Amino acid sequence: MVDALASPAPASGEAAGTRAVGDEVLVVDFGGQYSQLIARRVRECGVFSELLPADVSAAEIARRAPRGLILSGGPASVYADGAPALDPALLELGIPVLGICYGMQLLAHALGGLVEAAEVGEFGRSELRVREPGRLLRGLPVEQACWMSHRDSVKRAPDGFTELASSTASPVAAFEDPARGIYAIQFHPEVAHTPYGQQILTTFLEDICGADRSWSAASIVDEQVARIRAQVGDGRVICGLSGGVDSSVAALLVHRAVGDQLTCVFVDHGLMRKGEGEQVVAAFRDTFKVPLVAVDAEARFLERLAGVTEPEAKRKVIGTEFIRVFEEEAARLDGVRFLVQGTLYSDVIESGGRRGSATIKSHHNVGGLPDDLRFELVEPLRMLFKDEVRAVGAELGLPERLVWRQPFPGPGLAIRVVGGEATKERLDLLRDADHILQDEIRRAGLYRELWQSFCVLPDIRTVGVQGDERTYGSVIVLRAVTSDDAMTADWARLPYDLLEQIASRMMGELRDVNRVVLDITSKPPGTIEWE
Ligand code: XMP
Repeated sequence: MVDALASPAPASGEAAGTRAVGDEVLVVDFGGQYSQLIARRVRECGVFSELLPADVSAAEIARRAPRGLILSGGPASVYADGAPALDPALLELGIPVLGICYGMQLLAHALGGLVEAAEVGEFGRSELRVREPGRLLRGLPVEQACWMSHRDSVKRAPDGFTELASSTASPVAAFEDPARGIYAIQFHPEVAHTPYGQQILTTFLEDICGADRSWSAASIVDEQVARIRAQVGDGRVICGLSGGVDSSVAALLVHRAVGDQLTCVFVDHGLMRKGEGEQVVAAFRDTFKVPLVAVDAEARFLERLAGVTEPEAKRKVIGTEFIRVFEEEAARLDGVRFLVQGTLYSDVIESGGRRGSATIKSHHNVGGLPDDLRFELVEPLRMLFKDEVRAVGAELGLPERLVWRQPFPGPGLAIRVVGGEATKERLDLLRDADHILQDEIRRAGLYRELWQSFCVLPDIRTVGVQGDERTYGSVIVLRAVTSDDAMTADWARLPYDLLEQIASRMMGELRDVNRVVLDITSKPPGTIEWE
């Protein structure tokens, strides 16, 4: 996806478009590591949810009139200087409130319960004992596992509240006062390690908030189409297609909205995987009939990459050349005012949800556009998480291969020819090896389970023996990782038989390869890519 400068974009909340006010449950974010996950889980229950900053005003919440409010966890102690505080007016709006972790401690502290500061906390798996299910824990077993991550703990619920449960180290792990519509739990219902977590959230959303659980990612297609039409009018729009799911889905939504006012530009830098460029062209030009300029720029990129061996230098060369090609193509199209950007909700949250923010991790800036390209951004995925983008892609008929494509770095295979120059010959060898890997992983049914799977070609040669002859050939490294967000990753335990099949195919089918090795490094301390 191409990056671009900031320009007017919908503020948080407006982006939900034509959705009726009130059909949502808002998460007030006190900085917890799982806050995003809470919103995702609420959406998985069929209720639209957004994160709002801890200092959101009660007036703003009243204006949005959500069905419910969730106060997230956070790293602070309610006793710390400058700890995010709870605006008591939030509790007077007549909107059901669920406090989670720090959110619960804030409620206890604000309403006269007892929160005790502690040096040693409760982290990880804990046993929950339900004493009195009340409304929130109705239908749950008396004993169950839950996931904790806190230091301070609630020793006594505020007056008028019922203490519902305790845990291994928390005397009060849940309390409620249905008459006031206030509920609180110390553990994290949003993580998979709390097996009944989703059930508790569902009880809150359905029974307590009375929310209509009919929201789905696919249901936003119509409202986004209407929004895009309203924003773009009869203007011309350009979109840089990378072949990744984000830019593909963004482009399809815009095409559905404004048809041939959209032109997609696909810059094939020759650093893609085997057949991926053709797949993009086939899907967009042939199937969806989207006006598409496909630029075969392989020769240009290879020329610029000649003699470049240092990873960051490679990224820079590729980024700069990408901008040149994109600018040249944009200049050929008259009167383009809008640029489609596949910004996701996680990007919006990471950059603080600022108005018009288009920040993308600098790391991911290849394909970024310079500041003097004055386009107005169209960001139809701004409210969606990655899984939801895939759901919208499937709804729009995007081929399965594009919907489920693993992340692929902007600089492509060039940063997988490691420690050396990315020549055509090396790239072709790497592409062929990668093709075998992908083929076998797909056949084994493992493609979707892996965050990424790829090959690396280090610039070294090793000795081997083939058909009685000494060989001096290339080494292919296999890298397959599981991850949720690329921030941390673990090496995937691929079955031995599969590894053997991959290695023997590579050594049989690729003349130059005489050794295949497996990378068993997690992140940290390693990174996913080698360069
Ligand atoms: P690392 O190697 O830092 O990668 O663990 C984390 C994720 O980012 C991808 N990656 C890139 N993506 N341009 C990109 O668009 C880049 O220069 C780049 N470098 C790494 C990587 O594939 C992984 O998903």
